[in-house]
Amino acid sequence: MEDNVTLKIGDNSYECPVITGTENEKAFDIRKIRAESGYISYDESYGNTGSCQSEITFINGEEGILRYRGYPIEQLAGSSSFLESTYLIIYGELPSQEQLNLFREKVRRSAEIHVGMENHFDGFPTSSHPMAILSAMLNSLGCYYPEMSSNDRHQDLESFDDAAAVLLSKVRTIAAMTYRMKVGRPFIYPKPDLSYSENFLHMMFSNPYQDFEDKSGLAEALDLFFLLHADHEQNCSTSTVRMVASGGANLFASVSAGVCALWGPLHGGANQAVIKMLQEIHDSGDDGHRFIESAKSGKAKLMGFGHRVYKNYDPRARILGKAAERVLSSIGYENDPLLNIARNLEQAALDDDYFVERKLYPNVDFYSGLILKAAGIPPEFFTVMFAIGRMPGWLANWHEVASNDKARIHRPRQIYQGPAQRDYIPLEQR
Ligand code: SDX
Repeated sequence: MEDNVTLKIGDNSYECPVITGTENEKAFDIRKIRAESGYISYDESYGNTGSCQSEITFINGEEGILRYRGYPIEQLAGSSSFLESTYLIIYGELPSQEQLNLFREKVRRSAEIHVGMENHFDGFPTSSHPMAILSAMLNSLGCYYPEMSSNDRHQDLESFDDAAAVLLSKVRTIAAMTYRMKVGRPFIYPKPDLSYSENFLHMMFSNPYQDFEDKSGLAEALDLFFLLHADHEQNCSTSTVRMVASGGANLFASVSAGVCALWGPLHGGANQAVIKMLQEIHDSGDDGHRFIESAKSGKAKLMGFGHRVYKNYDPRARILGKAAERVLSSIGYENDPLLNIARNLEQAALDDDYFVERKLYPNVDFYSGLILKAAGIPPEFFTVMFAIGRMPGWLANWHEVASNDKARIHRPRQIYQGPAQRDYIPLEQR
């Protein structure tokens, strides 16, 4: 088993120590190469570069494996809850009953937001995208907790447990308040006796005179949705959180940056793009086959398909596909036309060489929107739902950076391709 990789540049050789992961993943450590050789490595979009060593989540893209702190996602999806898996992701171990009760209570107690923040909603146009509001409100939330957002790493670490509960609980409250503001309805305050997802549905859909009644197990489906989105190693938004944390920024600023990174249609914004794609296919009278041809010709992307890491079926998509069928049949939509189109697209793509050669499979976003749509969540809130689910992963990754005394600020290098040195030309001569 090699302990070093030798890099040969010209007549010189450079030894790079090998780092081996728990599951025998291999990396060669090039941290000394620039100083010794003057060369940097180049890996645009970081597809082949490890940015950190982490103990939180493991993915094997070739085999479609996803584990939170060593526990397979299939087992957690079948037996755990969002808050229990959140505790696992953040603290590294499954909680005892007492630990879980205390954690649940801490999150429940943290659901309300300061009334001063309600006024912030007056400043947003009702046409604002909820992700813009969410990132702004999460950063503003830190202003109400100066003791948790001091940018003094040791102080912010000391208050991490409280700050984590505040963010886990209030991200849900802010999302619901954003929805109520946009539809012009009064805010509904959280109810401490409800579970995490029940409280979210209550704040979204209850009325001052009548509480929302979840007749078709939507809270259970949302809890599974959140659990499946809880962490996913160094994806674009989590890497952003680590990047911001590496500069010493507090938890609120870091997760606010994560929300912005998640918003993009190639990342968390894909779940909203999938429903738009399915609706457009349906409205055009296509059963999906015409669209597949347009995706193969490069005229369109099959949103919800493909992944930088998974070159096999995303295990979350498999679970969400079954959950979507369960939820849709529980509300009498077993023949939802969009689900049928999704199934057609999936089958067509799995049989088509274009997708098979490129190892393009359904990812977490392909079926998730059908569940959210069934829950009555508007498509422009789908990525907000992804952000609520991903909060545990962002918190755990921030903590991993902030608690590492040897962690350095993330500062990639570049290869400059701009103009060579030239002299200033006075304005009158231009
Ligand atoms: C998430 O990183 C994570 O872990 C993210 C995530 C998480 O939990 O945090 O899993 C969540 O973001 C899931 C991905 C959601 N995005 C989408 O569904 C958008 C559609 N998918 C693609 O845009 C794409 O597959 C990406 C962005 C997901 C991955 O892009 P890559 O790794 O940069 O791959 P690529 O664009 O270089 O594609 C390789 C080839 C290209 O064809 P060729 O140039 O070789 O001919 O595959 C083609 C692409 O054109 N391709 C697709 C396609 N995805 C890739 N063709 C049609 N439809 C697609 N969806």
